[in-house]
Amino acid sequence: MQIVKHETHQESSQWVVDQIIQSLQAKPDSVVCMASGHSPALACELLIHDIKFKKIDCSKLFFIGLDEWVGMPPDDSGSCKYFFDQNIIRPLNLLPHQYHFYDSLSNNLEEECEKMNEIIASHPIDIMVVGIGMNGHIGFNEPGTSFASKAHVADLDETTTTVGQKYFTEAKKLDKGITIGLGQLLEAKKVLLIANGEKKAQVIKAAVRGEITESFPASVMQLHSNGYITLDLEAGSLIG
Ligand code: F6R
Repeated sequence: MQIVKHETHQESSQWVVDQIIQSLQAKPDSVVCMASGHSPALACELLIHDIKFKKIDCSKLFFIGLDEWVGMPPDDSGSCKYFFDQNIIRPLNLLPHQYHFYDSLSNNLEEECEKMNEIIASHPIDIMVVGIGMNGHIGFNEPGTSFASKAHVADLDETTTTVGQKYFTEAKKLDKGITIGLGQLLEAKKVLLIANGEKKAQVIKAAVRGEITESFPASVMQLHSNGYITLDLEAGSLIG
């Protein structure tokens, strides 16, 4: 794992974009997996700009959504699917065979997990972009999740259900998430964790300088030989 410090979140987001573009240039059928949320939002915007400006071929790109709130309709503006429809799928005109997301409304979530495991087995992830939650989660891999985990349904802890309200226009009952596992993160060829702002400084310190433990999921990044933590000055302020 390496730490990449930037002055600003804009520079950090641009760095993420550069990694994705390089991957697409070297391997047009790159498999890209991303978290939604506030941390990668600017990177998505800059990515669309650069792909259009540099005329990068995305016709072979395959995109995987990292996670979803269980029971959240895809047209709810706080859902992960909605985020990617707006920020990746529509702007890039990706065709249905070029992406895979969980159907978190399914009445068979185990089958959804199996489907995701099969998709990842047949489309090994080239580049994965994740954020970090205020409890150290990655995706919906909550504290205590095995570092060997695959796709699974998770009971969300109180920090996640409370902080998660920020994505919604009205109060939501959030109690479960469905997510790609940490074992699959470890198998991804390259993983970029992006964090910004003072509020993330403490969890970043714990993730990169603390003990490697399943009690703090983001510490799994220390085990990834091609893992990068990209930060602005504020998020990196406690790690010297
Ligand atoms: C969302 C996801 C979450 C977020 C994390 C940080 O798809 O996977 O793990 O990455 O909660 O959220 P933000 O970036 O909104 O601070």
